[in-house]
Amino acid sequence: MNPFKHARNWSTRALPVKDPNFGHAVDTSHGPILYIEDVNVSFDGFKALNNLNLFIDDGELRCIIGPNGAGKTTMMDVITGKTKPDSGSIFFGQQINLQHLSEHQISRGGIGRKFQKPTVFEALSVYENLELATADDKRVWHILSHQLTGAQRDKIDEVLYTIGLSQHVHNSAGNLSHGQKQWLEIGMLLMQSPRVLLVDEPVAGMTGEETERTAELLTSLAGKHSVIVVEHDMAFVRSIAKNVTVLHQGSVLAEGTMDQVQSNPKVIEVYLGE
Ligand SMILES: Nc1ncnc2c1ncn2[C@@H]1O[C@H](COP(=O)(O)OP(=O)(O)OP(=O)(O)O)[C@@H](O)[C@H]1O
Ligand SMILES: [Mg+2]
Repeated sequence: MNPFKHARNWSTRALPVKDPNFGHAVDTSHGPILYIEDVNVSFDGFKALNNLNLFIDDGELRCIIGPNGAGKTTMMDVITGKTKPDSGSIFFGQQINLQHLSEHQISRGGIGRKFQKPTVFEALSVYENLELATADDKRVWHILSHQLTGAQRDKIDEVLYTIGLSQHVHNSAGNLSHGQKQWLEIGMLLMQSPRVLLVDEPVAGMTGEETERTAELLTSLAGKHSVIVVEHDMAFVRSIAKNVTVLHQGSVLAEGTMDQVQSNPKVIEVYLGE
């Protein structure tokens, strides 16, 4: 497979970002919503990302697998602006150069990220957590004392349904199971209507049933959002993946369907044969 077949059209110039919620207008006319091209990241001489080339299509669900230390989390760090690459380019659609933006601008602009550990507000109810997520800043009491608009209430109902927590709306988040907390956190990201969702090891620590429901949830989000899932649980990846990318030593080792990558001798050697 030619990794450059999706390369960004270089005659298209990067545009300055004026609208803080720029994600809704991102130019995906050429297919991809994310272009990661020739990206390098070193930590004290160690190459965590090594000429990484990765293209994510608008609306696709992409699973990223690879052994510990392959660079999966670092890849998410460069997309979300947490880590600035040493070289290479990261574009959101054809015209938005993410390297010109801060972590806050990127998340506000339509790229939501779920870290491994849930960071819901345990003392607040499920509803209040989603209510908080509608706001731009997190001044809790200021937000909770204000009336939501009808549209915001509708959005909360829609998200509650999507994440399967409608029955738990008044429970405090601290009383939810581990899996339910993870879904609530995904719901909090959905409140911002992101174009791209990055999810790092979503099913770690979940029960079998929670894992299955997470598979359904992430599958249901594809199409409406582009979803990038990093996960070590191969049965889970198989259950959701159409396209799988295998990272190894900071580069793409293989890309294709789960069957294609699992039968790839290079992949078997570095990872799946372990
Ligand atoms: N801030 C940092 N400082 C120094 N080294 C780092 C830093 N972040 C990551 N690394 C190193 O870069 C490499 C890639 O790490 P990364 O966390 O991206 O791997 P990963 O694929 O997410 O692994 P895992 O499956 O274990 O989560 C590792 O060797 C890691 O130790
Ligand atoms: Mg990681």
